[in-house]
Amino acid sequence: MTHPGAEEAREKLLVNLTPELRRDLRIRAAEHGLNMQDAAASALSLWYETTEPSAAVETRGAKSWGVFLPAGGPDRFTQECEQRSLTKVQGMAQAITLWLAAHPSPAERLVAQPTKRILVGNQKGGVGKTFVASGLAQAMAEGGLRVLLVDYDPQGHLTSRMQIEGLPEGGESLLTHMLGEATKHLARSLVALPHERFGGRLHVLPASKDAFLMDAKLALLQVGRDTCLARALAPLEDSYDVIVLDGPPNLGLAIDLAINYVQRRSGELIDHSGILIPVWSDRSSFDAYEMLHSQIATHSKMTGAVVDELGFVVNAYDARKGVGTRSFYEGWNQLTVPGVLGTLKDSIEGREASDYQVPLLEHAPDSPQANVMRALAKELAA
Ligand SMILES: Nc1ncnc2c1ncn2[C@@H]1O[C@H](COP(=O)(O)OP(=O)(O)O)[C@@H](O)[C@H]1O
Ligand SMILES: [Mg+2]
Repeated sequence: MTHPGAEEAREKLLVNLTPELRRDLRIRAAEHGLNMQDAAASALSLWYETTEPSAAVETRGAKSWGVFLPAGGPDRFTQECEQRSLTKVQGMAQAITLWLAAHPSPAERLVAQPTKRILVGNQKGGVGKTFVASGLAQAMAEGGLRVLLVDYDPQGHLTSRMQIEGLPEGGESLLTHMLGEATKHLARSLVALPHERFGGRLHVLPASKDAFLMDAKLALLQVGRDTCLARALAPLEDSYDVIVLDGPPNLGLAIDLAINYVQRRSGELIDHSGILIPVWSDRSSFDAYEMLHSQIATHSKMTGAVVDELGFVVNAYDARKGVGTRSFYEGWNQLTVPGVLGTLKDSIEGREASDYQVPLLEHAPDSPQANVMRALAKELAA
């Protein structure tokens, strides 16, 4: 979740919330065409107006969560909780539960949204970008969405782990399209995954070796460099519900173009598109995030783009690795904006899926990791 624009005077409220309620609120808000923070504010208003006491809500497993409320909102909430002799955790849980009951899922989304664009990004290598991008895309496709997965790392790990040889016959590379030199539609460059569970809905744009030259080639582009990725992918957007980019392991031009591509468009809800950040529970991941965050901030400042950081996926987490690991894990949870959307352990199934070049959900559909990917997909699909 990202800071709202500076023009809105909002205050951050920190309160613990269960991942289930957070997910439900996010999904339901999107279905009603509302930003999550507006839904939270509406939940609190509704709760303030409701005088009969609400039933206690289960709050075990609540994690720190941050939400921006209209000015004065956090103080008002604290007072109401005191008056009702409730903890803030219980107060928020009751307010959201009340709002969810008052706002059932509509049959259709109330506000149309552009194709969702998610960059799985972190310049640090080996943190699990490809693993998360791929698992998320698989889970979204399994759940019924039409998904395009773009191998945006010249090394092509995603491509090879999907057992794809490269561009299909006659396909032109993404870079060729970005340079405006392509002669055919970009759809000619896609490969559909054959597995039945994806129902033909999961397509991959494979990497191509020329992507190593991206910075050098694009430097020669006189006009339209900032938007060349957006322009290249635009012809495909109508055919997909979601476009997931597996980011490169550096902070060069390629990542800037991807940041530009996932920026919030006019009329787009907060956190509909943006950057999902896989991290580890260690110090170097915090340092890496600081650099990434600062690059996003610079990009926004220089271009006026608003870019949402969707959240972290803490990867390869193992509490047995010691106090340090556990305290860094708490550190990610305490950042709250954006928050931790999922936690993955390092597992044999995950390794095997990569090494055997089989998609995780196909190789180990019932594994805990596959289920984390499904939960992530459910929350981010909203
Ligand atoms: N949670 C996990 N469990 C098992 N293997 C993992 C997990 N996360 C990543 N891996 C494996 O670790 C290696 C590095 O991950 P990868 O996704 O390629 O990182 P990145 O794309 O950030 O460089 C890959 O072989 C990947 O399959
Ligand atoms: Mg990778």
